[in-house]
Amino acid sequence: MAKLKGSSGKSSVIMCRTPKDFIEKGIPIIVRGEGTRVFDRDGNSYLDLTSGVTRPVHVGYGRKDLAEAAGKQAAELCYFTPVNFTNQRAIDLAESLSRFTPGNINNFLFVCDGSEAVESAMKLAKQYHSWKGDKQRFKVISRRGAYHGVTALALRAMGTVLTMRHSMEPLTPGSVFVESPYCYRCPLHLTYPDCDLLCAGDVRRIIEFEGPEHISAFIGEPIQQGFGALAPPEGYWEVIREICNDYGILLIIDEVICGFGRTGRWFGIEHFGIQPDIMTMAKGISSGYVPLGAVGCIDEVIDPIGTFEHIHTYANHPVSCAAGLKNIEILDQENLIERAAEIGAYFLDQLKSLEEHPIVAEVRGTGCWLGIDFTTDKKTRAVFPMDRLGSIVQRALRKGLIIKLMGQALELAPPLIIEKSDIDWGIKIIHECVAEEAKDMGLA
Ligand SMILES: Cc1ncc(COP(=O)(O)O)c(C=O)c1O
Repeated sequence: MAKLKGSSGKSSVIMCRTPKDFIEKGIPIIVRGEGTRVFDRDGNSYLDLTSGVTRPVHVGYGRKDLAEAAGKQAAELCYFTPVNFTNQRAIDLAESLSRFTPGNINNFLFVCDGSEAVESAMKLAKQYHSWKGDKQRFKVISRRGAYHGVTALALRAMGTVLTMRHSMEPLTPGSVFVESPYCYRCPLHLTYPDCDLLCAGDVRRIIEFEGPEHISAFIGEPIQQGFGALAPPEGYWEVIREICNDYGILLIIDEVICGFGRTGRWFGIEHFGIQPDIMTMAKGISSGYVPLGAVGCIDEVIDPIGTFEHIHTYANHPVSCAAGLKNIEILDQENLIERAAEIGAYFLDQLKSLEEHPIVAEVRGTGCWLGIDFTTDKKTRAVFPMDRLGSIVQRALRKGLIIKLMGQALELAPPLIIEKSDIDWGIKIIHECVAEEAKDMGLA
């Protein structure tokens, strides 16, 4: 396992999903951030087109007002239990969030991250059905290509990053997988719109096969990360919503990435005009300044539950909630959601120029979340080798640019405050790296 040794040579930091040879070659130790840039301890500066690689830093690095809001709350009340008591900041954050969440998502539990939010959402769904007398509903439908986190129930729904899934098998029973709406390489070998949205319609057949009386929820990201910022075709979510309604299945929309302006709306599902029953949030909810996630739901889900059997010590944490509040205030008052839509449209327009490369298959994106899909053959849409994508990411890093790889694609998710000059420079570097890689592969 990859370990990063401390100065004495005795201690080490256990690295997540990092190959040993990365440590041997040397990785940047990031010590500071300012706006869209981060700096390592050797004094190198990087333009970060990923908001911290896992994409939380929506408002940018180095916001003193946000840091101060958390510090002030820690001095006033650092902690109190979420059981039988609550705290004012949790109430305030619920009130603030409910101004922006879609429809009637007005009830919130605050947790520490996206996985905990998904775990809580699945428990809410299960306990909702149980309290209504449907004690057998335990299965959750998710999609191939889905990423919902790493806690037990979240991992059960993971349809991508299969090494993580397989390393922990056997998993909690109850996974049901359906296809993702990945039109560029349709898993059903169909073409939109002639396909009549079979990837969505087919969910009905799978529910019948699994037994509707066993199915608790359908979970999906409004725009999916698995294949690189993949928006579904028009009409997809309406079909899924209708099927869930027909079978009494709760629809959990996972906004962990899409929420808080990432796609140019407060929440990703707003692009598709349907109402979730439960919503999960994290990342942009606190812009990464403190660990924070949330699950929200409509009254009809929470009301039948007598007592919600679930607790984390740090649920509804006052310091995290104070930071979340300040972050939402910044997003709102500085119009960063509208900005994400505008600057994201510019980014996508400029990034399309990459499609001239023989190895770039498709450039897509919504707001400040963009994907570059690759292929070794544009005619057959052949899959691109992952190690080659990793090599493009490393080339960019050496030139001072942070981008990330996601499945067969490269992904970009900059802080929403990014300026056009940074976008232009970033695209120039990506062009160089893609051209160098293509030449190396003999595909230039
Ligand atoms: C859609 C989605 N859900 C859940 C998670 C899990 O969030 P976390 O890593 O904060 O536990 C992620 C993480 O990337 C995610 O993208």
